[in-house]
Amino acid sequence: MPTPAIRTIVQQMPKAELHIHIEGSLEPELIFELAQRNGVALAYPSVEALRAAYAFSDLQSFLDIYYAGASVLLQEQDFYDMTAAYLARAHADQVRHAEIFFDPQTHTARGVPFETVINGIWRACQDAPISATLIMCFLRHLSEDEAIVTLDQAMPHLDKIIGVGLDSSERGHPPEKFARVFERCRTLGLHLVAHAGEEGPPAYIETALDVLNVERIDHGVRCLEDPALVARLAREQIALTVCPLSNVKLRVFDDMSAHNLITLLDAGLAATVNSDDPAYFGGYMNANFLAVCDALPLTAAHARQLARNSFTAAFIDPQARQRHLDEVDHYFSTL
Ligand code: ADE
Ligand code: ZN
Repeated sequence: MPTPAIRTIVQQMPKAELHIHIEGSLEPELIFELAQRNGVALAYPSVEALRAAYAFSDLQSFLDIYYAGASVLLQEQDFYDMTAAYLARAHADQVRHAEIFFDPQTHTARGVPFETVINGIWRACQDAPISATLIMCFLRHLSEDEAIVTLDQAMPHLDKIIGVGLDSSERGHPPEKFARVFERCRTLGLHLVAHAGEEGPPAYIETALDVLNVERIDHGVRCLEDPALVARLAREQIALTVCPLSNVKLRVFDDMSAHNLITLLDAGLAATVNSDDPAYFGGYMNANFLAVCDALPLTAAHARQLARNSFTAAFIDPQARQRHLDEVDHYFSTL
């Protein structure tokens, strides 16, 4: 049998998703449905008008519309429905395991109880066709004291959270602003990740590692500006959760052909491919892989490395990791 085309390979291979903001999976159709269900007024007259507004100039221009979209989430069932819809899409893209970010402060600031948010998202993960775990993100444009309040609210729910992350507006909000809350999370035994080097400088990647003690870097694509940092990331095999469609939509790269994913892989970095905010950036996991295939010289060896990296970097137990890696190796051995 002839070897399948790279586009088929990336779609069919087993994979993990490690960088997905669940609020960023809220499709315009569901935003309108929930707005109607909850009696929330929207600034856009139709699904089409809302989708047409998804033209971003940078991270902040996206975040403004992303937080507005999340305003329709009020009841536990809303969080359940959003999460269940994402998990069904991920399953269809041969995602075997997802580590899902959620932003409690976006909701508690509107008066939605922390319990409502986490219980809805958690219940959908329990009912999912794939394995799914939760990473609670602190909003970095807010203060560290507000992050500490959020951690206090999460304390009765630590059995539902595998780790914490740091997201929202990166520039001007360096990782070290959150040193104390991350240290407390570390002593609680939580896994630690942070967005760094998306729009912010390579120095933010270094302080995320050295001050926050994170285990993975979300995005991290600006690391290539610092050769010593690249050497360190390769040596320590720090995973980078790269989000290609996001990077093009938010103008981190002019177009996909300018994306540095292949350079990262060829430098020996533990890069992975992820969807970030799929409802806003043009697609879920396989759409990201296909966009990369169509613009960059991605080989089957790269694809296998990306699939392996996703499970190697996942916060899963050693037996599950080995089972997933064996499935990846078996898939590629049959090509
Ligand atoms: N929140 C949702 N998506 C994000 C991104 N790409 N960067 C920072 N914060 C985010
Ligand atoms: Zn992100």
